Amino acid sequence: MPILNFGSLNIDHVYRVDNFVLPGETKHTKSYTINSGGKGLNQSIAAARAGSQVFHAGVAGRDGGFLVEMLQAAGVDTSLMQTSAEVSGHAIIQVADSGQNCILLYGGTNQMLTEAYVDRTLDAFGGDGFVLLQNETNLVGKIIEKAAAKGLQVALNAAPYSEDVNAYPIDQLDWLIVNEVEGAGIIGGAVDENLLQRLAERYPKAGILLTLGSRGAQCVQNGHYASIGSCKVQAVDTTAAGDTFSGYFLFGVMQSLSLAETLRLATVASALCVQRPGAANSIPTRAEVEQVLAEGTLQVPEVLEW
Ligand code: RIB
Repeated sequence: MPILNFGSLNIDHVYRVDNFVLPGETKHTKSYTINSGGKGLNQSIAAARAGSQVFHAGVAGRDGGFLVEMLQAAGVDTSLMQTSAEVSGHAIIQVADSGQNCILLYGGTNQMLTEAYVDRTLDAFGGDGFVLLQNETNLVGKIIEKAAAKGLQVALNAAPYSEDVNAYPIDQLDWLIVNEVEGAGIIGGAVDENLLQRLAERYPKAGILLTLGSRGAQCVQNGHYASIGSCKVQAVDTTAAGDTFSGYFLFGVMQSLSLAETLRLATVASALCVQRPGAANSIPTRAEVEQVLAEGTLQVPEVLEW
């Protein structure tokens, strides 16, 4: 079953710093690199490297040719994409010595999807498959409605969180993927240990994946809960770790792997990702993940199910 990802593409401007710049501070940086990124592009590449057939939909700007080439090199089908004479989306990313990042986004052509393009793309994709979305493009709510009306399965990674998310028809989703901030924003409450359960009660039809960063991840589908910790590794750069987790997780779901097996794959994939600098370029292939599992080079936490 193929994935159609209406996803953002960003030119990532990455600055290595010891610590994040403070308000009012001017700071020298240790290095500067330009990478391919965007939560959409990263998740297309993660799902494709996991083994899914992925079609990426979205708009690349006049400066975004290398982003499209990056998708193609990972085996993603870009034939449904559009190009524009405007500038692509970009991100200004600080990566601190801790491996943590902070990110400023400029939407560019990621905010230029039109309903006519969405309709044409859904028609061309056909009636069988999975539509994936993140919150870095415009028309997210409309695409959920249109895809669900066509009988397609729909997954939303509600990142990054903005108040717009609360107006999306989340009850029409088959999978909702959130971190704690996004989950609490959607539910309208504080982050606590019952967040996943409260999301599941609010959206009983949807499977829900809650990522917890270095504390691992939890998920629920049809009343079946599972959770996993994270592999203990030295993080160099956590950029795209969540995207890697999402892409591998969806691959597992679409292959009807068990939740336990799916969580293990996604956990190892994101542990490999954080040990490498960059975004899309740091996402491992399935062969790399399988090698780690076969050789036992990482201690993969046990999956708990209830
Ligand atoms: O999730 C990481 C991504 O967030 C980066 O590649 C950046 O482009 C932002 O979209």
